[in-house]
Amino acid sequence: MVRTGNKKSFPHLSNLVEESLCGLSPIQTIMKMAEERNIVKMGLNPEEVISFGGGWCNHHAPENLRNAYKEIVENKTYFHKSGRYSTIAGDYNCREQLARFEKNIYGVKGLQPSNIILGHSSTQLFHDILRVLCNAGDDICFLDPTYANYVNAVKCALPGSKMRFIPALESNTWEYLPDPDSSLEVLKSRCDKGARVFVIPVPDNPTSQIPTDEFLKGSLEILEDRGGFLILDCAYKSLWFGKMSRCFSWSSIDMPNLVTLHSNSKWLSGLGRRLGWIEADVNVTSGLEKLNESVLLSPDTMHSMATARFLEKTLEDRSLKSFIDETRRLYEKTAAVMIDSIDDCLGWNRLKPQGGLYTCCPTPEGEEPVGFVERVLKNTGVLLIPGRGFGPSMEQAVRLSYGPLCYGHELIKEGMERIGCFLSKSKC
Ligand SMILES: Cc1ncc(COP(=O)(O)O)c(C=O)c1O
Repeated sequence: MVRTGNKKSFPHLSNLVEESLCGLSPIQTIMKMAEERNIVKMGLNPEEVISFGGGWCNHHAPENLRNAYKEIVENKTYFHKSGRYSTIAGDYNCREQLARFEKNIYGVKGLQPSNIILGHSSTQLFHDILRVLCNAGDDICFLDPTYANYVNAVKCALPGSKMRFIPALESNTWEYLPDPDSSLEVLKSRCDKGARVFVIPVPDNPTSQIPTDEFLKGSLEILEDRGGFLILDCAYKSLWFGKMSRCFSWSSIDMPNLVTLHSNSKWLSGLGRRLGWIEADVNVTSGLEKLNESVLLSPDTMHSMATARFLEKTLEDRSLKSFIDETRRLYEKTAAVMIDSIDDCLGWNRLKPQGGLYTCCPTPEGEEPVGFVERVLKNTGVLLIPGRGFGPSMEQAVRLSYGPLCYGHELIKEGMERIGCFLSKSKC
């Protein structure tokens, strides 16, 4: 809590801010550590730091997308329209094109624009969908480990609700289950005690794994039986490496207990061009519309118009499929460089990514990860992310992101070599 130097003390803020959210989150802690002035204070040259910290992609967005923005900006009428409010559910044309995109690329059947609601980002929509599906105090289930940002999202959206973890990573063997039998039993018992929602990113952050069809189907059935919801967070959906997961074609038309959360951030390299959407039964999208009236009012019209134009053109000339295939191959190759470098230089246990931007490794000899990351950064100029914050199974582990280095494979190798040299203390 920041206090002024005045004699009169500053009035209290909400309990949420002063208590639940007080202090730095694990990710904020490490981002502070990685700030330029801190790097300089450590005696390092910021230009020589290799970061495996960033949770983002770095490929170029397709030229057709840039052209779509250009066409809007260059046409006086379109540009004027891009400055208008859209409906609360978002630009109809964009929702229509997103339904076409989901059908053509992934085989999602039957989606209508009314099953799609646009939002600012999946971060905003995640917060809001929790408020639509749950009451404050309802427990929410997550895989262990899971995306670290969910922690504060639950605190903000549902005061008093608790995160309940469903085991997915076996921290002794570093095997990714989640086991269709025992993990589903845990889910069942959590739902029987009142949990309403189970959230799974596919592919996952931080593990880049995709649970088996059996596990995902089993989870959905448990939630269907108990009147709950399965939320699949599809932030990394277009970045899958092997065979496409069957859940990518699931449709809320015949699965009303399914809600899928989407974003342009990763696949379109549009982290700063904020646009996300939700696909769900109309009862859910209508509920979200009520909430978004006061939270958002209008999703971004410019990004919606550009996305719609881009999808229409590239689905027509079939270049969208090629763009997605090229992009996911780029990250698959980058992931392979990361895994080979870990194997060659460190010999650590690691998870082989099935998509997405990350891998996870246990710290050597189970060292506490914040101190380990600090020690590695000071001595090698290489930044890793401590696992704390991603769930109990990552308490003695680190997350490594290869996403920002998709065009910098040599830096991935160099980063691993630097850590290997430092840890083995050999002259390299
Ligand atoms: C699993 C997951 N969901 C959502 C997001 C955030 O997406 P957006 O940029 O749409 O807010 C991230 C970002 O790293 C993520 O890892």
